[in-house]
Amino acid sequence: MGELRRPDNMVRITTPELADAFIAEQVKEIKEQVGDKKVLLALSGGVDSSVVAALLIKAIGQQLVCVHVNHGLLRKGEPEQVIEVFRNQMKANLIYVDATDRFLDKLAGVSDPETKRKIIGGEFIEVFAEEAKKLDGIEFLAQGTIWPDILESEAGIKAHHNAGGLPEDMKFELVEPVRILFKDEVRVVGDRLGLPANMVYRQPFPGPGLGVRCPGAITRDRLEAVRESDAILREEFEKNGLAGKVWQYFTVVPDFKSTGVKDGKRTFDWPCIIRAINTTDVMEVTVEHLSDELIDHLVKRIISEVPGINRVLFDYTPKPPATVEYE
Ligand code: XMP
Repeated sequence: MGELRRPDNMVRITTPELADAFIAEQVKEIKEQVGDKKVLLALSGGVDSSVVAALLIKAIGQQLVCVHVNHGLLRKGEPEQVIEVFRNQMKANLIYVDATDRFLDKLAGVSDPETKRKIIGGEFIEVFAEEAKKLDGIEFLAQGTIWPDILESEAGIKAHHNAGGLPEDMKFELVEPVRILFKDEVRVVGDRLGLPANMVYRQPFPGPGLGVRCPGAITRDRLEAVRESDAILREEFEKNGLAGKVWQYFTVVPDFKSTGVKDGKRTFDWPCIIRAINTTDVMEVTVEHLSDELIDHLVKRIISEVPGINRVLFDYTPKPPATVEYE
């Protein structure tokens, strides 16, 4: 590839001192590479792109243009946090695009999981490219590529999803400041750059977002039920000290209804499924068993606070045979 590789003898960045040294070195290198030119970054709010944004803001300030595309499938509070942290606190040059209607209109009536993913991925590139075309003088594209991305793409395990993606006629030189880091190192660096802990240590969240947790054709009401129940689950995991301990946890609202009763009246509503799992490599996962008290509390909260839900179920299935996500 001829591009920067992680040196075999590189010390793992585990301490604030090592992180500070890495930050100082990267700031210098970014300044040298970019000069007085402008850099574009798709800022999802995930760990990698957030750390890249914070590094670039430190190095080149207003020469960085961040674009945050809200595809309508983000978790409750996510776009607000990106705006608060990057625009308000770090004073970044941030373009916020609320493309919710555009995505949900395209996805309306589409129930095939792969088609849904393709629509979400394709539309994302289109929205980002449209924003990029409106800007003048951009010569660089920053990406949150990390070392496992490079290793996995070289091994043919997965296409390196961070690379490319933009239309052929849009050619930028890449800026990849965390390219030689492992995920745990990216987190230590993010911490030292002053990013909030819930951003730096957050659980994995798939690119197609809540779209894969609203199985079948997405409707706005069922999507809202996923978003609200997920917010309750996250809040309770935080309160109960499970947030940093359990690898991934979320809710799914499948597309079927069952009979229930509320205030003496018949209901016909969706179930909400809770999934909580642990893993190291995501190839095999085990289920985190929650206490009876917590399950009871979650059932009460979700039923009383989330419109359209009349049952709460818990998924006890490891991977294999079930994948983590439902689509
Ligand atoms: P599965 O469902 O394949 O999930 O067992 C394994 C891990 O990958 C995440 N995941 C994704 N991440 N884009 C992503 O960035 C995706 O399309 C995607 N699909 C699944 C999933 O959340 C889990 O952590």
